[in-house]
Amino acid sequence: MGESRYVPRSGESWRNPYPMYSELRNNSPAYFVEEGSYWFLSRFEDVFNAARNPRIFSSRHGLTIDQDSNNLDMGDAAPIVFLDPPEHTEFRRLISKGFTPRKAEDMTEDIFSFVESAINRIKELGDCDIISELFKPLPSYVVSKYLGVPASDRVIFDTWTEKIVAGAIHDEESAGLEAIYEVTNYFTELIEWRKRTPGDDLISELIEMGEEKVSIMWILGLAFTMITGGNDTTTGLLGGSAVLLSENPEQRKLLLEDLRLIPTAIEELLRMTSPVQGLSRVLMEDFKLHGKTIPSGSRVLLGYGSGNRDEREFGKNSEKLDVQRKIKRILSFGSGAHFCLGASVARLQSSIALKEILRNFPDFYADDTSSVYATGNYVRRHTHLAFHTSS
Ligand code: HEM
Repeated sequence: MGESRYVPRSGESWRNPYPMYSELRNNSPAYFVEEGSYWFLSRFEDVFNAARNPRIFSSRHGLTIDQDSNNLDMGDAAPIVFLDPPEHTEFRRLISKGFTPRKAEDMTEDIFSFVESAINRIKELGDCDIISELFKPLPSYVVSKYLGVPASDRVIFDTWTEKIVAGAIHDEESAGLEAIYEVTNYFTELIEWRKRTPGDDLISELIEMGEEKVSIMWILGLAFTMITGGNDTTTGLLGGSAVLLSENPEQRKLLLEDLRLIPTAIEELLRMTSPVQGLSRVLMEDFKLHGKTIPSGSRVLLGYGSGNRDEREFGKNSEKLDVQRKIKRILSFGSGAHFCLGASVARLQSSIALKEILRNFPDFYADDTSSVYATGNYVRRHTHLAFHTSS
């Protein structure tokens, strides 16, 4: 039996955190991390229950293990992910109309065209870095469409997205702050413009509800949450999926034989990749788990990525890709109050991208041996992934 210890991951160490998770699930399911002073939960059931109990597991103090959470003080613009019920419930009810599966479906054609043109470019390029060609620009395009960013501003929007996502990581903080400033100015102007020229987008819908219900600051906060939450996560799912299908040719063959399996496969790929590997909460009262008492005020890191590989939930082959697996519950989008609002559109864009890759490059190979993983302790994703159009 190996040593059960939780060590935060970043960059290269994201390549394979899974043996560590497995040790923790088996030997120390409620683990106190001395260096940093927080707890790590690794089993499916524990993570699931904690996510669904926001009264005790609060999001108000940020979602990182950082004790003095230096989250930007956004005042009224406190993003929805940092709210607890009842404020959270109220705000979520107002905005959820903008995130229905129907809204996502309406984007099918646009997403398809975007993917098609990227695929055509890749055909010309031959082998390429699939992250920069498709897996990074696609989610940024989708978020920009949701927010009603005009096509003419999309190039600059992509640049900000990149800086903000990178800025979430300490070493590039100043570039991130600059981008936040630029985006704040941009959206303030966009909101003014949408007041006069409403479109079929989330911002226009929120403006229509009136400022007494949804303040401009809340709209700005939501725009940031979507930029930070909707980009690198989707990139993580797409990159991780390309690698898994390259390394499991028999599973890829099943998909090629029947592309209708894709929606089922996406759930399994979400489970296996778990782009958000963990997010933290702060305990509002003492909590007993596995014979230990976690004291009130503790930070508790919910191991979404570990729970998603738990053999207690997914059976003996929980570490294996099975594109036909019947999945009842997964943690990839969180659970309960904060369940990801972008889940439908994330599934949609990933299904379209995967299907078109399989149709156009049935023998593709995404080479994880030369890939680069992003720094940051919460999202597991590639920054570079060599893609060979045939193996
Ligand atoms: C594969 C892609 C994605 C993954 C894995 C993912 C994951 C997550 C997770 C785990 C949460 C819950 C946070 C928590 O537990 O505190 C969340 C919340 C959220 N996500 Fe996503 N997300 C993805 C894509 C998107 C996209 C594309 C959008 C926007 C278009 C989006 C918007 C949001 C928002 C607004 C919330 C906050 C919900 C709330 O606090 O009530 N996400 N996401």
